Amino acid sequence: PPLHTIINTFDFETIAEHTVTPKTWAFYSSAATDLLSMKLNKKAFDQVLFRPRVMRNVKSADTRTKILGFDTGVPFFIAPTAMQGMANPEGEKAVAKGAGEENVIHIISTNSSHPIADIVSSGKGPGQQTHFLQLYVNTDRQKTSQLLANAKACGLRAVFVTVDAHVSGKREADERLKVDVPVKSAVSGAVSHNDRKGGGMGRLMGLYIDRTLNWEDIAWIKSAAGGLPIVLKGIQTAADAKLAVKYGVQGIVLSNHGGRNLDTSPPALFTLLEIHKICPEVFNSLEVYIDGGIRRGTDIFKALCLGATAVGVGRPYLYALNYGAEGIAHLTQILKDELETTMRMCGVTDLSEVHPGLVNTRKIDAL
Ligand code: FNR
Repeated sequence: PPLHTIINTFDFETIAEHTVTPKTWAFYSSAATDLLSMKLNKKAFDQVLFRPRVMRNVKSADTRTKILGFDTGVPFFIAPTAMQGMANPEGEKAVAKGAGEENVIHIISTNSSHPIADIVSSGKGPGQQTHFLQLYVNTDRQKTSQLLANAKACGLRAVFVTVDAHVSGKREADERLKVDVPVKSAVSGAVSHNDRKGGGMGRLMGLYIDRTLNWEDIAWIKSAAGGLPIVLKGIQTAADAKLAVKYGVQGIVLSNHGGRNLDTSPPALFTLLEIHKICPEVFNSLEVYIDGGIRRGTDIFKALCLGATAVGVGRPYLYALNYGAEGIAHLTQILKDELETTMRMCGVTDLSEVHPGLVNTRKIDAL
């Protein structure tokens, strides 16, 4: 169907299901074991209700903000997702191009299909567009040092260290389908293959990830990153949010990896509320982002009301990539447009005006 007939994130999903190869669909859409966290991620947003304010002159609705001090047109970013070349041969290069057109920040995965330099040059180019690196720390630390040095040289502006994927979840749909055409990441060098457990792409392409990673390694990562801001992706408790402050990182992504790793791990929205209750001072020390199940402008706005600086959107961008850079731009416009509508409906013209009083979380608080 032509792009102009696609009016929400679910349209992209339905089309992708019928267009991409069965293996690509299994890798992209799958989640851990019984899919409970993945489903709950979306449901959690549906439980939060608005407390809209009226009569506030909402002629304008400005979605611009800053993430780690970098300008962005929208308070959401393209979450790092591996092997975007499976959706479209142009993969991350098309994502960078579409992201540049719409001024949305793209986080480049350590398991990207294309080299970082090629991705950056496909967009507006270094210095003209903000990209961040998502880091999987390699058991061979020299490889990680080289990756960080290369990322910095290519103009990437922050490092999102993923801390919830030192083991991969059991994604059964992905395990059941064998890899018949192996793919290789141009960044990490990981290659998809099969073993006696099956053909799980995430699991088999993550075998190099260092399981010894711990809080004391942050100092090493900071120095290897040459002063770039460090964000920890995959924080799931208030206690770890406090540790992130203690270890001096600039941000945290509350995430359960799209429900792909530990099933029945909490939706990020629950963790966000836990931080409000237990250690609200965290919000003064670092930026808090959330991801998982964000499919509507209303979801984005709810997260911002509850203290998130920005949110990550994962699978919908993979599905939109079917349409190349234009799909990436179109999806961004859809979410931006839904967000502007939500802002106006709630009486907000600028994102600096949001506050928890605009939402009712009682249904979730009861859990
Ligand atoms: C991911 N995610 C991910 N995260 C990460 O830190 N590094 C990675 O390489 C990947 N790869 C990846 C591949 C695919 C196919 C998916 C669907 C996800 C997780 C991603 O960054 C994010 O946390 C979730 O996708 C957010 O949930 P939604 O928006 O997909 O529901």
